[in-house]
Amino acid sequence: MKKIHIFDTTLRDGEQTPGVSLNTEEKLQIAHELARLNVDVIEAGFPIASPGDFEAVRAIAEEIKGPIIAALCRATTKDIDRAWEALQFAEKPRIHTFIATSPVHRQYKLKKTPTEIITSAVNAVNYAKNYTPDVEFSAEDASRTEPEFLYQVIEAVINAGATVINIPDTVGYSIPDEFGALIKGIKENVPNIKQAIISVHCHNDLGMAMANSVAAIENGAQQIECTINGLGERAGNAALEEVAMTIKTREDFLKAECQIITEHISRASHMISKLTGVPIQPNKAVVGTNAFAHESGIHQDGILKERTTYEIMCPQSIGLQENMIVLGKHSGRHAFRQRLSDLGYQVNDADITSLFEQFKMVADKKKEITDRDIEALIRNKRIEIPQIFHLKEFHISSGTQKDATATLTLQINDQTIKEAACGDGPVDAIYKTIERITGIRANLEEYAIRAITGGKDALGEVTVRVTINNKTYIGHGISTDILEASANAYIHAFNKIAQAKKEAL
Ligand code: KIV
Ligand code: ZN
Repeated sequence: MKKIHIFDTTLRDGEQTPGVSLNTEEKLQIAHELARLNVDVIEAGFPIASPGDFEAVRAIAEEIKGPIIAALCRATTKDIDRAWEALQFAEKPRIHTFIATSPVHRQYKLKKTPTEIITSAVNAVNYAKNYTPDVEFSAEDASRTEPEFLYQVIEAVINAGATVINIPDTVGYSIPDEFGALIKGIKENVPNIKQAIISVHCHNDLGMAMANSVAAIENGAQQIECTINGLGERAGNAALEEVAMTIKTREDFLKAECQIITEHISRASHMISKLTGVPIQPNKAVVGTNAFAHESGIHQDGILKERTTYEIMCPQSIGLQENMIVLGKHSGRHAFRQRLSDLGYQVNDADITSLFEQFKMVADKKKEITDRDIEALIRNKRIEIPQIFHLKEFHISSGTQKDATATLTLQINDQTIKEAACGDGPVDAIYKTIERITGIRANLEEYAIRAITGGKDALGEVTVRVTINNKTYIGHGISTDILEASANAYIHAFNKIAQAKKEAL
């Protein structure tokens, strides 16, 4: 069995998803979840890109044990110094340096000759080696680079000490046979290739990131770069959950294995969808809500007779299992704590108390509390930030013949402020009132609502994306009352804005 290393770049390429912006606390939560999944490498960010990126990489490097922590940098000493500054306290640090090698990037972006590209690449690897033995080199836009030139670059950087060579299909241009042949060509034509691990990093512009990654494994790649839910620049990257489940399900064909604990996939996928505000499409492979749903009568009949007639993976293999013992308003704290622990959450006493209070509040309105409801409460708890604004009360009036009016009471520190506003529908009225009370004017870019479970009493989860001064903030709210969830989601985003303003002072 070939061992395939899983290099997760959700926090770096994934954060380049248009509209996604994560703060350090959220990135740390994701990094813990990735460590729980047992990824081999976490690419924590691009430290020179911004002070926020630097801070997040530094915090992850200090706190996360187990996986290698990588930081991205261009092939310059300034970038490499900054990457190391952020990484230096990691248990297992990796510097990941890159330069573009394709003709179009050389000519228009870098304005460098092929010889200059090789010199920059070699100098960067040499320089990074002064800091750490684990240095990855990426030939950006490798798939559109002349193979002969790519071989020369790779040979030179391995001689300089690169231990991992990454071959990105940066613009998602490759066709699987072609990409597989490129990896095979590298193995056959780079004399010192055995001294390094071959990695691939495939983008999904033509929907072939996964197929190209598989073709690369078949032809000798030992590391796959991927992201949870396929997040990433433009159409995104190969999805970690698809890579891991393909390796697990088709181990027989690929003769490969990876160390991902696949039973943790579902939880990681949902958590990252919430924190990034990017919903999972229902028919998404592995983690979409339809991935294990069987619609047609023939299929249902087949499944009932023998599950494997229409299922190649079981829901439990990605951690989907509904507990048969249903919690409700009569359940005690002990049963609640036990369920949290069964679901894999280690929660301290203070958090149990507040979660249990929220659980009781929901249980008062909803007969049965499922595992998915509990996970939503936990996600909500985890995304808590200092509550500068807090919703105390609201009243809405709306109808077909009149404008909607919202009256809200917000607690702001020790002050209670009540205001009202009219709007084009109840949510608009609520949001105008919140803006009036807080004095913050933001642009609502996106509003999404979904029911966590079925039934009329389901918890509703609202996600909003707001921008202010070119910065994006994601807010979430959950409640059995969708207007309360809507108000809380906006207030959550506004709390983040207020917190960011406070930190900037
Ligand atoms: O897509 C790409 O080429 C990248 C590199 C920086 C690895 O993200
Ligand atoms: Zn990329």
